[in-house]
Amino acid sequence: MSQRFLTLDDVKVDSKRVLVRVDINSPMKPGTEEIIDDTRIVAILDTLRDLEKAKVVILSHQGRPGESDFTSMQPHARVLQEHLGARCRFIDDIIGPAAIDAIRKLKNGDVLLLDNVRLLSEEVMEGTPEQFAKTYLVKRLAPLFDLFVNDAYPAAHRAQTSMVGFPEVLPAVAGKSMERELKALNKALNEPDRPSVAVLGGAKVPDKIKILANILEKKKVDRVLLSGLMATVFLEASGVNLGEGSRGSLKDFESLKKQAKDLLDKYKDIIMLPKDVAISVEKKRVEVPVGKMPKNASVMDIGENTIKEYAETIARAKTVLANGPAGVFEDQNFAKGTEQILRAIANSKGFTVIGGGHLAVIAKEKKLENTIGYISTGGGATMAMLAGQKLPGVEALYKAAKRTGIK
Ligand code: 3PG
Repeated sequence: MSQRFLTLDDVKVDSKRVLVRVDINSPMKPGTEEIIDDTRIVAILDTLRDLEKAKVVILSHQGRPGESDFTSMQPHARVLQEHLGARCRFIDDIIGPAAIDAIRKLKNGDVLLLDNVRLLSEEVMEGTPEQFAKTYLVKRLAPLFDLFVNDAYPAAHRAQTSMVGFPEVLPAVAGKSMERELKALNKALNEPDRPSVAVLGGAKVPDKIKILANILEKKKVDRVLLSGLMATVFLEASGVNLGEGSRGSLKDFESLKKQAKDLLDKYKDIIMLPKDVAISVEKKRVEVPVGKMPKNASVMDIGENTIKEYAETIARAKTVLANGPAGVFEDQNFAKGTEQILRAIANSKGFTVIGGGHLAVIAKEKKLENTIGYISTGGGATMAMLAGQKLPGVEALYKAAKRTGIK
């Protein structure tokens, strides 16, 4: 029997004391505490609606210690209050007496957001779920709750204390956003209608090569369309010299090229590479066939013929899975590839899923989000899932379901 986790539909929640781990880690305007994009906050509202008659405590992280977007959760509370009203409050404490007292005083319908869980060193330490269950964080909070809800899909690839420690000791279920994400990605990845096309671009080449190897070896796709830095590596592996400038800041270029060559040799009928590219000449977009690039030019985008060919392939697909931009989309001269590919995905009649922050932001900007089947809120978690890795946050839910039993 395949593994299952429990969901909010499996448990009674009214009047219960519920700890909800969410991931509302959001992009912040540099130097301020202003949230630029509230997508992840909006994504958890369904779960909070299901819990409107419970006593709810929310736990999340924001940024990483030492980084500029490592802030308190107060700005997130302000956004949550716009949706939930005064029943939602923030407390600048996590496991101290003030937090414990506020949790004990909660009434049905109240929502309390605790401070950034990464303020606690126990959250970011190495260990096993069993060790995490013995931390102060878990020992102090768990006895105050009847149920743990994990709605933090974007952090599901992190084996951190709040993700995997609580499900060791509390009944644990997946929240609505977690359920939605896993369902959409599982459909696109494991039960795709054929033909299925993956569109892989952007940087993070080592991670994306893992994704490519997984989906090709497990025969999950019929076509892969490469763009961005991924295309540069694969074009060079196929014998085309695009020059240093096109390689961005890739450190292990030769070893990546070798992996790319192996995949190309094995799957040359499935992997599609750009036939032309756009380069920058005096800050203007110039189209050049691959192989005819002037020395020292850098690839900035896929070319117009490639855009057309990729868009036609997407139009014929019944499933499309996309991750990463096609070029340097931040410069309007080179945003064409990314935008046209997104438009082709939005026009597709098949089931479409896009992942990774950049594509999601552009889809929103271009008002394409309502015509794309599913936009994942996950970055690293979605990449890990596409690469065939287990997600510790989800594994912890399976384990908890086994322990508490499935009705
Ligand atoms: C993300 O934004 O990908 C998640 O919030 C996880 O953040 P992390 O990479 O800092 O663990």
